[in-house]
Amino acid sequence: MCGIVGYTGRDNATPILMEGLDTLAYRGYDSAGIAVWNGEDIVMKKEKGQLSNLKAILDREPVTGSCGIGHTRWATHGEPSYINSHPHGDTKKQLVLVHNGIIENYVRLKNMLVERGCKFVSDTDTEVVAQLLGEVYEGDPLAAITNAIRLLEGSFALAILFRDDPTRIYCVCKDSPMVVGFGKDGAHIASDIPALLSYTRDVTFMGDKQIAVLSPVGIAFYDEFGTPIDKGCTHIDWDLDAAKKGSYEHYMMKEICEEPVAFRKTAEQYVSFREQPKLKADCFPWSDEDAKTVKRIRIIGCGTAYHAGLLGKKYFQELAKIPVEAEIASEFRYSDYVFEEGEVLFLISQSGETADTIAALRMAKQAGIRTVAVCNVIGSTIAREADEVLFTFAGPEIAVAATKSYLTQVTVLFLTAMRLGLIRGTVSEERAASLLSELADIPQKMQRLIDERGEIQYFASREFSARHVFFIGRGIDNALSMEAALKLKEVSYIHSEAYAAGELKHGTIALIEEGTLVVGILTQRKLAAKTASNLEEVRVRGANVLALTNGELPDIASHCSKVWKFEETNELLAPFLAIIPMQLFAYYMAVQKGCNVDKPRNLAKSVTVE
Ligand code: M6R
Repeated sequence: MCGIVGYTGRDNATPILMEGLDTLAYRGYDSAGIAVWNGEDIVMKKEKGQLSNLKAILDREPVTGSCGIGHTRWATHGEPSYINSHPHGDTKKQLVLVHNGIIENYVRLKNMLVERGCKFVSDTDTEVVAQLLGEVYEGDPLAAITNAIRLLEGSFALAILFRDDPTRIYCVCKDSPMVVGFGKDGAHIASDIPALLSYTRDVTFMGDKQIAVLSPVGIAFYDEFGTPIDKGCTHIDWDLDAAKKGSYEHYMMKEICEEPVAFRKTAEQYVSFREQPKLKADCFPWSDEDAKTVKRIRIIGCGTAYHAGLLGKKYFQELAKIPVEAEIASEFRYSDYVFEEGEVLFLISQSGETADTIAALRMAKQAGIRTVAVCNVIGSTIAREADEVLFTFAGPEIAVAATKSYLTQVTVLFLTAMRLGLIRGTVSEERAASLLSELADIPQKMQRLIDERGEIQYFASREFSARHVFFIGRGIDNALSMEAALKLKEVSYIHSEAYAAGELKHGTIALIEEGTLVVGILTQRKLAAKTASNLEEVRVRGANVLALTNGELPDIASHCSKVWKFEETNELLAPFLAIIPMQLFAYYMAVQKGCNVDKPRNLAKSVTVE
């Protein structure tokens, strides 16, 4: 949500800023702007809409300079417009800044600043920060920042250029990510790692209220009182090409095609596949004693990450026989929940920066509850703040629609449940060995599914005008249906719902009419006959039925107009295969409809505000 970039050094800042904004475009935006020191003045260019609009302006009116900041804005306060785009400045024209986050007390601050003579030109909360900084600025940028941030409530990541000191970029953040790094020609700042990868792999994540001052020769760090601090670097070994689209038309397709590798890389972190596959016990946060004290697990996440948590719940219950609840972070954080002793809170997040998930994490920490993150981004807020982190190794995920991150989250949850089950004696060594040796074959099976995607593309080419699609299943398949429905609606804008198959008759079946597409997911043999009956119930009411099955299911074809089957696999491992056709289906439906697959309307990759 919003993207910040900044550069100061020997090169021309403008192309660096534009490339960085392009890399961060996946976060979602509706306007963009830059401010560059051209040696005489700070020049601002901004425009509503796509980055190409800003680029067209820069082609007509080029801006050259060695220090600058840039921003892609996803509107929260004030409509997407030229006036509301960042950067914003103060009335006295002492500084300009870009901002991510939400200033919650902006109305109060604005009233105070208007009384003091500030002339506001936009509807944004951001301009309040620029005006506030302008009011407290007396020639010392660091002092102005430390004084101003004391008055701000809410979340912010700020990159600021002061006219008196125009070759330095001042940055500060709270509850909103920022990462800095020094390349061979200068210092860079960005909201997310991919924008820095072309310049450096050694990056520093900014902590809350820490200040970074970027100059052409280095980066200095300060605490919220302006006292110098040391901060180390984290080495990022993501492949640079992993953040690029390569020969694929869309990141989403590229990321689906990367799933066999992402799955294998993640599994190999936790399983030794030499000879007899075995869990690497020391990669999990529990000692034998420790694991026995776990009385209850609560899994928290948003969107796709929550859906991964729903599968995690099934795994913990089945393999470790532990009571589990999975909950949406935005609901959980305001639920007045009372934690119990022996409870462990799992936080699932690809980005590690989702505002509601961070809030849930902090609630648990305050209550003294053990927190375990399942996270894809080293150095992110959730990875830093959780007691333990089980990393996923999906690599950078650029498409807004989560695909490989979901798969790797489910992988980690499955292996963690198995580890707890082994310690607690609810999974035998033999069962674990058998599951793990089947797991070793999953990447090839996934690859075969991806290779055969033509069939799904063909099906989508006939169904893309569907107005409503229902996904139904039971147990694990119900959890999978929820992710399948989310994928379809977010990229193709087709209304889609997931429904527990057995629940249809309690109301929702009234929506089935001639031609409604119903997708049944049947990966669990003991429940398949029941879901098949539910498919028959909708078929006879006119639905067009597609079934996705784990191997060949006898009798299923008579209830459906189409069956997709994947190679028969242990039922607990079936989600790793079943999700791929569902993701591909959503992708092809969106492509057929001409949707912006990688950046669906209104969505942002990283939801850093409530
Ligand atoms: O970065 P996170 O995993 O915390 O993000 C949570 C959700 O915003 C995310 O999973 C979202 O639902 C997906 N991008 C949708 O495909």
